[in-house]
Amino acid sequence: MRQGMLHVRRTSSETLVAKRLRTQVAIVGAGPAGLLLGQLLHREGIDAIVLERRTPEYVLGRIRAGVLEQGTVRVLEHAGVAGRLHREGSIHRGIEIGIDGRRRRIDFEALVGGSVVVYGQTEVTRDLMDARAACGARSIYEVEDVRLHDIAGRTPRVSYRQHGEACEIECDFIAGCDGYHGVSRRSIPPEALQVYERIYPFGWLGVLADVPPAWEELIYASSPRGFALASMRSATRVRCYVQCSLEDRVEQWSDERFWDEFKRRIGEDVAARMSVGPSIEKSIAPLRSFVAEPMRYGKLFLAGDAAHIVPPTGAKGLNLAASDVWYLYEALREFYVEGSDRGLDGYSARALRRVWSAVRFSWWMTTQLHRFSDEAFNERIRAAELEYLFGSRAAQCALAENYIGLPL
Ligand code: APR
Ligand code: PHB
Repeated sequence: MRQGMLHVRRTSSETLVAKRLRTQVAIVGAGPAGLLLGQLLHREGIDAIVLERRTPEYVLGRIRAGVLEQGTVRVLEHAGVAGRLHREGSIHRGIEIGIDGRRRRIDFEALVGGSVVVYGQTEVTRDLMDARAACGARSIYEVEDVRLHDIAGRTPRVSYRQHGEACEIECDFIAGCDGYHGVSRRSIPPEALQVYERIYPFGWLGVLADVPPAWEELIYASSPRGFALASMRSATRVRCYVQCSLEDRVEQWSDERFWDEFKRRIGEDVAARMSVGPSIEKSIAPLRSFVAEPMRYGKLFLAGDAAHIVPPTGAKGLNLAASDVWYLYEALREFYVEGSDRGLDGYSARALRRVWSAVRFSWWMTTQLHRFSDEAFNERIRAAELEYLFGSRAAQCALAENYIGLPL
């Protein structure tokens, strides 16, 4: 393999390329999807370079959900990065659903015999970064102007600039793990992609604060004032959300206003016993469902948020990224170890089957638990559905089975 060869050459677009690298899989994006794929491939002896446009500190500063399905935990174990997660993550055997002050526990263990692990996505990313650094695999941060070339042809390449220098990576395959706003999906001709999208008419305002949680399990609460979620990161740190207007700005939400609104929605008993504290992070995120099909174009394979977005109700984003990556890893291993294209050819359909089941579930959780300002008929249907959930073991099983994660 030619690595780090320094020579000046002109590409077809006549740019001077100062540095040319060669790898088997060029991975665009060092979020959880890109780093996890890099780690799985490394352990199989498949060479990959990870390209990221931000700094590692910036990547670690993003606060995202923190609920891992058992399947995700197994993938992280396979990648050799589950040590700290087993020590520090906490096993949750249920969640609570609140409706207008009443609550019902959804007992995962009793209903479907499973559980999830609460462990922040930031920590998963940190563990993956540390593992990559420890094994000396190549990651290149702070790259600019990333472009994909010849993705449908025989010589796929990724060009970028680093510190003003034009660089290019020759590879066999490109893994597009660069999130919703990345360059990978946009490199596919629009006529080759079918896009499905739903934008919800509200956002989530999230607060991170160093106070002990007054709840042992996550509480998803639907109230006449809108949705609220009580979550946590550890025995001393909470993550809480309220449904807000898309027009709202973070500056309009003082900590006092946030906690006041949260308490009004989460249920009187919880409000009475909870403590509040200054926010250490506060942000507003819009909610959308989005899927781009297929997840492959020539030598380019999309994984994670680059191909799909789900609203955070149900915490499926990271788990879907992990299942895509697992399928892509298996397909690449089949190619390099067994010389078979079968896994690569089946990747998109296999990943999309699981993606759509999580898109459906997240859409369902979102529509049931949020207040929409739409017609009265829909409001009544939502209320009836939640009543059914409270009263029916079958409905609770369906929720539990989806929440803990359908099989990989
Ligand atoms: N070149 C290189 N890197 C890029 C580019 C680009 N042109 N565009 C974006 N990136 C990087 C981003 O800076 C980010 O670090 O790609 C990474 C994508 O990471 P995520 O957005 O975290 O997406 P993914 O790894 O698929 O993770 C999916 O994590 O982001 C959450 O909500 C998401 O929970 C879901 C899961
Ligand atoms: C979180 O802890 O941030 C979190 C948990 C569950 C969700 C969404 C977010 O559904």
